[in-house]
Amino acid sequence: MAKMWAGRFAKELDKTADDFNSSIHFDCKMFRQDIRGSMAHAAMLGAQKIIPPEDADTIIEALGSILEDLESGKLTFDYDCEDIHMFIEQVLTERIGDVGKKLHTARSRNDQVALDIRMYLRDETSDIIEALKNLIAAILDQAKTYKATIMPGYTHLQRAQPITFGHHLMAYAYMLRRDIARIEDARARMNISPIGSCALAGTTYPTDRRMEAAKLDFDGICLNSLDGVSDRDFCVELMSAFSILMMHLSRFSEEIILWASWEFKFIELDDSYTTGSSIMPQKKNPDMAELVRGKTGRVYGDLMALLTTLKGLPLAYNKDMQEDKEAIFDSIETVKMCLGVFTPMIATMKAIPENMYRAAQGGFINATDLADYLTKKGMPFRAAYKIVGQIVALCIEKRTVLDALPLDEYRAYSELFEEDLYNEISLETCVAKRISEGGTSVESVETQIADMTAYLKGNI
Ligand code: ARG
Repeated sequence: MAKMWAGRFAKELDKTADDFNSSIHFDCKMFRQDIRGSMAHAAMLGAQKIIPPEDADTIIEALGSILEDLESGKLTFDYDCEDIHMFIEQVLTERIGDVGKKLHTARSRNDQVALDIRMYLRDETSDIIEALKNLIAAILDQAKTYKATIMPGYTHLQRAQPITFGHHLMAYAYMLRRDIARIEDARARMNISPIGSCALAGTTYPTDRRMEAAKLDFDGICLNSLDGVSDRDFCVELMSAFSILMMHLSRFSEEIILWASWEFKFIELDDSYTTGSSIMPQKKNPDMAELVRGKTGRVYGDLMALLTTLKGLPLAYNKDMQEDKEAIFDSIETVKMCLGVFTPMIATMKAIPENMYRAAQGGFINATDLADYLTKKGMPFRAAYKIVGQIVALCIEKRTVLDALPLDEYRAYSELFEEDLYNEISLETCVAKRISEGGTSVESVETQIADMTAYLKGNI
């Protein structure tokens, strides 16, 4: 096909080079944004009398019909075109002739593509934020169900102190809330219009960039045209936010995988979100969680790929920047797919409280509370800590637990020990007494649940 720029060239572009150069097979995703952007551009050109207003109307109407035909499938992409921008312009010109050729006045594909990606990401991030809120809601429901369910809390993957399952789950709700804030923050910075930067230097036409930006719901315009066409910070920022989000989902996945194992058996995943083995009839595998953990690497890779692409680029536009789209599209698709399975997997997961409780009974996870018991009776914490360490060693030797060691054995270490110690170190007391803000007591978890509910309702 003859190129739009053919005038300058004596020979046609080599076929392999043409395919290599082309981006329509992936940037076709942005057809809606490209058309909407072009409609606003035509309107601005008409309003500023840069082209006759009737021509602007003709262009806008034809763009509307192109959009309709693409949506309905009546019109399909021509993969011989270099990119989505060329394709739309070509169809426009086929449909309305020379008037269509006026659309690209006071604009370049460099600012056009920068505009399209920003608009595309703006739309996609709204969907992702919605999906994240749904995940938080699913976690919140589970946290309400299990707000008093005792389990061991871990550090170093060693049993540390008793907590509730609700408390543990709420930790993820807070991570995801920060993820939303990061995406919203990146989106606010992204919502600035580059259109009108043109190729790199601005234009000689009397454009109204602010009018065009307002028509497209941008909050403002980029004030440096070189920056306008070469900035891809917003892609990098979003991919950073997605990477952190995936890191959170991956940590959660890792815990789900551990909890679903026979070694823990703290949870049972729903059959609809697990798979069997082709050879081992007994298997029920947490594939969804494993894949989410696995796909995290892919999203990190997308971020690294774009950072590396951008790092040596001189101003302004360089074709290398076409590589931004596959990376960011892949991140978005991956995040959406992961959330699509992760949320129902969490919503349908069931805890097995008796196994959690049994695990909490081992591992001396009430040892801190025993030391606190002595401290509250006047012993300095370090001295109490030492005595309890010795008592734990004794229990290990005697193959018993703190709750079962007779009082006279305790009193051999300190006269401060009395009968009430057993109540003080029961798992229920250990949890109930952790009333500090953010702690694991049921009231504290209820406060966290109320805070998160208010957040989801948009009240904070
Ligand atoms: N397909 C190109 C991209 O994605 C559009 C911009 C092309 N501009 C140019 N001067 N070749 O970056």
